[in-house]
Amino acid sequence: MAHHSLLFFSLLFSGILSSVSWSYENLLDSAREPEFLNWMKSIRWRIHQYPEIGFEEYKTSELIRSELDSLGIAYKWPVAKTGVVASIVGNSEGPQFALRADMDALPLQELFDWEYKSKVDGKMHACGHDAHVTMLLGAAKLLQRSLRKDIQGTIKLVFQPGEEGYAGAYHMLEEGALNGVKAIFAIHVDPAFPIGTISSRPGTLLAAADNFEAIIIGKGGHAAAPHRTVDPMLAACSAILSLQQLVSRETDPLESRVVSVGFVRGGEAHNVIPESITFGGSFRSATTEGLYYLQNRIREVIVGQAAVHRCSAKIKFLERAFPATVNDEELYNHVKRVGGILLGESNFHLSPLVMGSEDFSFYAQRIPAAMFSIGIRNESLGSIHNLHSPYFFIDDGVLPAGAALHAAVALSYLEKE
Ligand SMILES: *[C@@H]1O[C@H](CO)[C@@H](O)[C@H](O)[C@H]1NC(C)=O
Ligand SMILES: [Zn+2]
Ligand SMILES: [Zn+2]
Repeated sequence: MAHHSLLFFSLLFSGILSSVSWSYENLLDSAREPEFLNWMKSIRWRIHQYPEIGFEEYKTSELIRSELDSLGIAYKWPVAKTGVVASIVGNSEGPQFALRADMDALPLQELFDWEYKSKVDGKMHACGHDAHVTMLLGAAKLLQRSLRKDIQGTIKLVFQPGEEGYAGAYHMLEEGALNGVKAIFAIHVDPAFPIGTISSRPGTLLAAADNFEAIIIGKGGHAAAPHRTVDPMLAACSAILSLQQLVSRETDPLESRVVSVGFVRGGEAHNVIPESITFGGSFRSATTEGLYYLQNRIREVIVGQAAVHRCSAKIKFLERAFPATVNDEELYNHVKRVGGILLGESNFHLSPLVMGSEDFSFYAQRIPAAMFSIGIRNESLGSIHNLHSPYFFIDDGVLPAGAALHAAVALSYLEKE
């Protein structure tokens, strides 16, 4: 017996010594050191003060490159105009694993007053992409500092432009950002959950999404003589009503789809029937196939209703619809396990499926991918507002956990490859 346990212990011990010289605690402790945390805060505040919208992230990209230069990390730039793809190569080039951060802000006026508030009128980091960039640079520093020799393989740091409606991820893929990469992980901040917690779900996490804009053309004239006009107003109203049936009558009740009309424009006067009416909206589906079904039917319904009312119609969709964001189950389980070790198992929450969308879905369509949320809620600081709110505010206390999670997910992934 004694012999057995001795042998067992020595095997266990040598195993630990030879394969693991980084540790979860070390990553988190390093990222929490005041100097490290202050460095991360200063990065986030600089990005926050100069927000740039999709495909205009010139300053942000420059800041990223200058930090990578200081860390001595090689990168490719420009990828998709402002994007940066850095590589940290270990002992051998080996398998490649990617970590992603998006860089763009929103066309929104910041209304929360604080020291490092946006200095650019009408632009704001209200989706936390400033924190995403910072956490990924934090991970770069953690990986570069002491862990490089341990890595069998390559960790790619993907800083992408244009997440907010520009399909930046698609363009990164087109320019080969993920060629040769086996899997990709991303973090998004989430004000619904407290600091120190993470959440996600296996399989479908976010919906497939697209926008439409329709113009219905009739023949304008005097409201007192409708018989001499072709009324596009009535055609638009009928079309909008008929669109409601795509979900209520044509969708399996157990599937999730949504069609929302967000604006109607046209008509100026009480006594004039307008020449045309424009309207548009957003439609979503839990499956990418469901989205294409809706796209087809939205066109048919609007063109059909226009014809019923003797009008004609033209319809536009986004140049590139967003697929559903689907987490790879194996990678999801890997991240969940790593997150549990790093932050405590009780700090993981299963998220519900929501009908929001993310261009991370383009990566997930191509290779195994997983996206997790990280909590930023802190009531005493006012970190309670929703994403895209003009009052959105981040507790910087999230930065160490985010940086450490990125690093730990990548290191342990390459270790098991
Ligand atoms: C909220 O922020 C305050 C001030 O930074 C901090 O002391 C507190 O620990 C934070 N709360 C949580 C839950 O992290
Ligand atoms: Zn957003
Ligand atoms: Zn976002």
